[in-house]
Amino acid sequence: MKINIGIDGPVASGKSTIAKKVAQQLGYIHIDTGAMYRCVAYMAMQAKVDIHNEAQVSALLPSLHIKLHSNGSIECNGRDITSQIRSHEVSNAASVVAAFSSVRKNLVIQQQKMAQEKGYVMDGRDINTVVLPDSECQIYLTASIESRAARRYLDLQARGQDVNLDIIKHDIQTRDYNDMNRLDSPLKVSQNAHVIDTSHMSIEEVVTQIVTLAKEVHND
Ligand code: DC
Repeated sequence: MKINIGIDGPVASGKSTIAKKVAQQLGYIHIDTGAMYRCVAYMAMQAKVDIHNEAQVSALLPSLHIKLHSNGSIECNGRDITSQIRSHEVSNAASVVAAFSSVRKNLVIQQQKMAQEKGYVMDGRDINTVVLPDSECQIYLTASIESRAARRYLDLQARGQDVNLDIIKHDIQTRDYNDMNRLDSPLKVSQNAHVIDTSHMSIEEVVTQIVTLAKEVHND
């Protein structure tokens, strides 16, 4: 019998990369919920609405049809926006729209429907606290600000973006502050979470630890 695995954690803690690999090893489906908040932010920016205005952003929600494909590509209203949603501007805007309760309500319902069956690895900020509080394996990934900023720097550089380490560090701290201090579903460690500090761990070590934990739960 399959289980669900929820992975929460702050910006650039490696959640999506690790969740994807865990899903591959277990033959599960990976859902990157952050990509959904990014889609809303990107589409709001495209529609030239004020991203700080909840009523304007939420008015767009019924017209957004987000698809997360198994190859990792993200589609919204028939358009592939996989690379567009990873820009610096969209990252910051996603953190703003993610604080709106109307946006969260809409996306949480979609996420809960996606993972109705077992066999999902879902990553985000509120997976184990709100979206899938009954997930059998709950993980909270964290890492020092220095290692998270360094990882994001290398990642963006590899994507050909012009980057500055101090700006990245500042952005991460601002987004973390927004995500941890918003009123609706702030990022926090769920009661049943296994906290893993990845500062001095390789991706493979973290993946192995989560797969081992998942197998232990599975065999209980
Ligand atoms: O994980 P990410 O950086 O792609 O997420 C983008 C933004 O969306 C981030 O600021 C936090 C927010 N988010 C959220 O509030 N809840 C989730 N389940 C996933 C992401």
